[in-house]
Amino acid sequence: MKEKIDKIFEDIKQLNAKDLNELEQIRIYYLGKKGVLNALFDEFKTLPPEEKKIYGKQLNDLKNQLQNFINTKKEELESKSQAPTSKIDFSRPAQLFHSSSLHPISIVRNRIINIFARIGYDVAEDIEIEDDWHNFTALNFPPDHPARDMQDTFFIEKNPDIVLRTHTSSVQIRLMEKEKPPIRYIFPGRVYRNEAISSRSHVFFHQIEGLYVDHNVSFADLKDTLEYFAQSLFDKDTKIRLRPSYFPFTEPSAEMDISCNLCGGRGCSFCKNTGWVEILGCGMVHPNVLKNCGIDSDEYTGFAFGLGIERITNLLFSVNDLRLFSENDIKFLHQFSVLD
Ligand code: DAH
Repeated sequence: MKEKIDKIFEDIKQLNAKDLNELEQIRIYYLGKKGVLNALFDEFKTLPPEEKKIYGKQLNDLKNQLQNFINTKKEELESKSQAPTSKIDFSRPAQLFHSSSLHPISIVRNRIINIFARIGYDVAEDIEIEDDWHNFTALNFPPDHPARDMQDTFFIEKNPDIVLRTHTSSVQIRLMEKEKPPIRYIFPGRVYRNEAISSRSHVFFHQIEGLYVDHNVSFADLKDTLEYFAQSLFDKDTKIRLRPSYFPFTEPSAEMDISCNLCGGRGCSFCKNTGWVEILGCGMVHPNVLKNCGIDSDEYTGFAFGLGIERITNLLFSVNDLRLFSENDIKFLHQFSVLD
């Protein structure tokens, strides 16, 4: 008995199986019903009591060791058989996820809309293919005004009455024809000019127009609104300055400069050492314009302003080539993904 047990203890040290099938053969050989161990247990029953004491524990140890070997080896072989056989290297780093982003023009447009929404302005949009009345005549442009020139304006099918709108001021007319004061709107949109494409000019760009018409609207209201706007969009220390100007649809008219946001007004190459950069045109709505829309100019006054979104985007993000905005270059656009 002793020799048999010792031999199996020795055998266990050498045991190995290259697959589950071989392991099962080993199990049957040692632990199966007719296996070596059961034969030993049968023999054990015939032993005298003093020998049973010695071999009982050894036989149980033997059984446990065999069972352990079978279990551990089985786990090992099973996990191996599940290992991927494909050639894909799962440890390679994942590809970075590129989220999409808003176009910089949309980012700036949305910021401006939000600034005016906070002080009660609604948003309106209207058509881009306009007639002469809404784009020029109702806005008090005289018949011979240079802006009507074919050099500046895209006329459709040589019909001088149909134009691609040259500014969002046309929406002022469309709105005032429909609605009675109080009118308080901003209108963003795309506009078209017959220009040679370069870093500084393009055949289309974007504007935001503002219009406020009510009883007793004054130039002081205009100035206050524009200062709030400039300080909200740039920073709270931004200063504004209004310079007299001329637009047919406003009287008086002005152009607004802000203190240069790059040098803080001290003067740099960007502001040509003046400390100021121009950002918009504005003025009090001309009484003729109110009349053209059926609004009593003795009862109501209003102010209007218009700005180029590209220009503001240039100031905020230092994009100084207009063509970048319409080239759809992902490398350019992706830089704005953190801002929207
Ligand atoms: N329509 C003008 C342009 O395109 C901008 C403008 C100036 C709009 C003065 C206004 C304004 O509403 O009051 O250059």
